[in-house]
Amino acid sequence: MNNFDYKNETHIIFGRGTQSRVGELTKEQADKVLLHYGTGSIKRSGLYDEVIASLNEAGVEFVELSGVLPNPRVSLVRKGIEICRRENIRFILAVGGGSVIDSAKAIAMGVDSEDDIWDIFLQGKPTLEALKLGTILTLPATGSESSVNTVISNDEDERKVGYGAPPLRPVFSILNPELFFTLPKEQLTYGASDMMSHIFERYFTNTVNTDLTDALCEGALRTIMKNALILRDDFNNYDAWAEIGFSGYVAHKGLLGLGRDEDWACHAIEHELSAIYDVPHGAGLSVVTPSWMKYVMKENLPIFVQFAVKVMGVDGSFREQEKIALEGIRKLEEFYKAMGLPTTFKELGIEEDKIELMAKKATRIAFGQERQLGKLKKLSWQDVLKIYEGCCK
Ligand code: NZQ
Ligand code: ZN
Repeated sequence: MNNFDYKNETHIIFGRGTQSRVGELTKEQADKVLLHYGTGSIKRSGLYDEVIASLNEAGVEFVELSGVLPNPRVSLVRKGIEICRRENIRFILAVGGGSVIDSAKAIAMGVDSEDDIWDIFLQGKPTLEALKLGTILTLPATGSESSVNTVISNDEDERKVGYGAPPLRPVFSILNPELFFTLPKEQLTYGASDMMSHIFERYFTNTVNTDLTDALCEGALRTIMKNALILRDDFNNYDAWAEIGFSGYVAHKGLLGLGRDEDWACHAIEHELSAIYDVPHGAGLSVVTPSWMKYVMKENLPIFVQFAVKVMGVDGSFREQEKIALEGIRKLEEFYKAMGLPTTFKELGIEEDKIELMAKKATRIAFGQERQLGKLKKLSWQDVLKIYEGCCK
């Protein structure tokens, strides 16, 4: 097990009706806030009215900025930065899914910075201070409600770039599983795929002596698959949403990666799909992940065998380890298909003639730099190309 230094101070308020506390929680932080949200789902569900009532009751003044798109754009972030500067706002309340929360985080880090916000993303300059933010999560998937990360897209150069810094961790997040009932069905599947990937990025490691986090990862993965299948057939099942919401938070709060090297190749490989084709993140991940697994599994067969047996329920008595590992991956693909998730580029409408460019962008060769992706196996652009080729089958 590796050394670690861990602090996650996001106050989580979980359960039925908890959105009514947003005014009181926000008032503890600020008298005036930016209320940031997406393209209308919170108005249709009635959540917007509840939030406004709670803020009014607590005496919190607010300025609104709506319109965050899935794969949130830097252009709106710039607008939010201007509003906060002009209105002297020091706290952001994000109501929505990962895109809204990520957009809020990017605004929070840009307000006091002299640098252009996109340059900060591209250059990875450290952020030591940012405005604080709180969230009401309406879509369990990204874990952004308690993560230090934000992922922003720029239409101008077709890039999607992730960034992380401790001041971006929300001070509070409200998670009420009832708010998930209004989600379009496909968002359940994308969310399950994303939170599973956040666990895979930590689980598939060369670090040894990680019994506790191995077991936590395996339990969380089984919980997500079991409850996602329940929700597929019974969408308004509160208890299943509660398990999914709790798992999505645990998957990306930092806990499951403690003491182990993390990988993150699949996320970087997926971001190129979202950047060029605007595909939902979870749908890109269900295509990329099995191909990545098949490509790298020989680097550490025991962890793929462990996954097959302990998570996917493969019979461990097979004599050939490779067959067990492959059967685990096949069963994962079977789960994705059962949920209606794509497993090939064809289903996402991605053309084969773009994959070399995507491999070079993911590894930054296309920008005159070079980075290898991943940790379990370090991937060059040629490796990434092979993984993309595996998605074409
Ligand atoms: O625009 P609105 O009205 O908000 O509608 C959204 C959007 O159309 C809708 N929605 C959300 N909650 C709803 C709802 N519709 C009805 N009822 C509700 N309760 O769902 C659509 C998708 O929302 P979005 O926020 O884009 O989805 P998600 O939460 O999956 O976020 C995806 C983004 O997060 C990034 C992804 O790359 C992607 O850009 N990620 C962020 C991470 C982080 N910050 O830690 C980690 C992840 O790995 C991920 O990369
Ligand atoms: Zn993700």
